Amino acid sequence: MTDMLDPDNIPEHIAIIMDGNGRWAQHRGLPRSMGHKAGLDSLRIVVRALNTLGVKYLTVYAFSTENWKRPKEEVGMLMSLIREYIYREIMALHRQKVKLSFIGDLTGLPEDVQHRLSQAVEKTRMNPGMHFNIALNYGGREEILHAARCLAKQIRAGDMDPQDIDDQVWQKYLYTAGTPDPELIIRTSGEMRLSNFLLWQGAYSELVVTECLWPDFREDDLLEAIREFQGRQRRFGGVT
Ligand code: FPP
Repeated sequence: MTDMLDPDNIPEHIAIIMDGNGRWAQHRGLPRSMGHKAGLDSLRIVVRALNTLGVKYLTVYAFSTENWKRPKEEVGMLMSLIREYIYREIMALHRQKVKLSFIGDLTGLPEDVQHRLSQAVEKTRMNPGMHFNIALNYGGREEILHAARCLAKQIRAGDMDPQDIDDQVWQKYLYTAGTPDPELIIRTSGEMRLSNFLLWQGAYSELVVTECLWPDFREDDLLEAIREFQGRQRRFGGVT
């Protein structure tokens, strides 16, 4: 299957909106939480496949600033899954030399989760493999506001002139500082929107939407999405 891909045009950064867990469970008469649980298997498969393929950055949308509006039990279940994922997967990620990090307002997460996240980041800090970002309590608008507040403080303190703010400076204040913009954003479950994900960074990303629900998403679906990306003409507002 990988022989279908052009090895010289593999995206450096792929981002994924893992959608459709609830519907997957509903179709089977199961509670929504079972869909999220099944989604973890897809995540494991995708991380391994992309790391093997030599993709340098992967960012996944695991919990948005809007997801707090879900029923209390579902939010609790998602927090438990995050705990469980870190606990169970950290050694496997470390063995694959994956470097783990988290983006979003992590201070809004339960304290024990924050503690686990920082332990995981510390453990994998020096790993040379794929840089794996998990977006938690993340919202693109919140990220932009956070960057604006940080810059405003610097200006008020007299450490910066508004004229100094350009694209490069701005990027340093985003949660993704140091990470290139994703060339490809994949969304599962057929929904055609960004849902507040990587609003700044996704300005010129190619969007590939697949009907496949996230818990059904496997390596073949991933390679198919990359193949679709490779068939696109990227013009960045110019002409070819
Ligand atoms: C969207 O499906 C999915 C989420 C809100 C959560 C994604 C979480 C996981 C895959 C598991 C936890 C992840 C980590 C990294 C531990 P939905 O519930 O909106 O599905 P629906 O649109 O069918 O209702």
